[in-house]
Amino acid sequence: MNIAIVGTGYVGLVSGTCFAEMGIDVTCVDVNEEKIKSLLQGRIPIYEPGLEDMVKRNVEAGRLHFTTDLLTCLDNVEVVFCAVGTPPDEDGSADLHYVLNVARTFGQNINRYTVFVTKSTVPVGTALKVKAAIMEELAKRGADVEFDVASNPEFLKEGAAIKDFMTPDRVVVGTDSERAQKLIAKLYKPFMLSGERMIFTDIPSAEMIKYAANSMLATRISFMNDVANLCELVGADVNMVRKGIGSDTRIGKKFLYPGCGYGGSCFPKDVKALIKTAEKNGYEMRVLKAVEDVNEHQKGILFEKLEKHFRGDLKGKIVAMWGLAFKPETDDMREAPSLVLIDRLTKAGCTVKVYDPIAMDECRRRIGDKVVYCKDMYEAALDADALMLVTEWKEFRMPSFAVLGKTMKQKVLIDGRNIYDKEELNENGFAYYKIG
Ligand SMILES: NC(=O)c1ccc[n+]([C@@H]2O[C@H](COP(=O)([O-])OP(=O)(O)OC[C@H]3O[C@@H](n4cnc5c(N)ncnc54)[C@H](O)[C@@H]3O)[C@@H](O)[C@H]2O)c1
Repeated sequence: MNIAIVGTGYVGLVSGTCFAEMGIDVTCVDVNEEKIKSLLQGRIPIYEPGLEDMVKRNVEAGRLHFTTDLLTCLDNVEVVFCAVGTPPDEDGSADLHYVLNVARTFGQNINRYTVFVTKSTVPVGTALKVKAAIMEELAKRGADVEFDVASNPEFLKEGAAIKDFMTPDRVVVGTDSERAQKLIAKLYKPFMLSGERMIFTDIPSAEMIKYAANSMLATRISFMNDVANLCELVGADVNMVRKGIGSDTRIGKKFLYPGCGYGGSCFPKDVKALIKTAEKNGYEMRVLKAVEDVNEHQKGILFEKLEKHFRGDLKGKIVAMWGLAFKPETDDMREAPSLVLIDRLTKAGCTVKVYDPIAMDECRRRIGDKVVYCKDMYEAALDADALMLVTEWKEFRMPSFAVLGKTMKQKVLIDGRNIYDKEELNENGFAYYKIG
């Protein structure tokens, strides 16, 4: 089968490469010429473990192609996936103009039956807008070409994206067309050999499932952050509380880790967009508003702990920051807590020395010389008055506290991910603060 994937970002590039890995002929399309140029030269524009080798392998096998022009492949494909960005609009609702642009190009150029599948995260009702845009373009050129629309939200996690796509927990497809359903089922069949996990729904339900899933995960995080903050006040240890509640099978162990707030390209914008969808329909998502509120507060919590330790006197302090990406195994810094912390620290007169195994270039691109970039974690900590652990990359898990104790100016460690042992830190003479 031949397909096109429009939007060659974290979702489009991974999906396209994984489809190609299963023997499907895939053309990845992006308007960003730099991105396509670098892919054509064999350079991957994002960091995702395992992706580079997989892209190379499938390009060499002649199954994976890159172009800036959807028209070059439109006559040869049966399905077009739309995986372009849907960033928040000024009011928090999803900005659909990238998706609708792709729909218009599709309508202006298809010459035979093709399915338009929206993989981008889009609010309920978007498929109707996509369909209307395509029909309008077909009408403008007086073309009578059959097409269908479907919604196929993506659940991959950055950092584990290939595994998630190759062995998904489920694949959700919303469509009201049997013909489209059959085509999409055929495409995903190679991913279902270990067990059928396709869920077919109507289109609004598929669109809603993605937002409800992300909102539920964000809710668990904010709930645990709230519990952690209360634990501190009443003398309980949130790590013990987490184990105690996670062992209940009705609750489960995952997504119960408190920290310094959720970030990334999905949770913040999807929670906002669902709140907005509700508002537009005359309903208030009270739980989600609280989820957002808790998260905004939590992003500043490491700063508040530092401020408390130094009794408000932060001017001239040197703060080492370990981790910039919004989570480990990615270079993505969209809505990362590190950005909020850097902003507050520099405004308070601190010098921030940063190190991240992968996201240094991305940080430079975003904030330039606002911080001091260090070549490794120990260089960042050299002469620092305090160390903040913001992203729990594996290499930060077992540092030498003896070395840190000798090279830091003051022994203060603020652990935003609860990965260190309080007793070990105290034995090494550190003032140690964790979440909860
Ligand atoms: N990143 C994730 O982990 C993740 C997971 C699940 C779902 N999603 C959703 O998938 C969608 C894409 O997310 P992403 O993180 O891959 O975004 P991204 O920003 O990494 O990539 C989007 C790409 O689309 C391209 N684009 C924009 N308009 C285009 C057009 N008209 N034609 C061709 N290309 C165009 C951009 O140049 C960009 O390269 C979003 O709706 C997001 O919410 C993301």
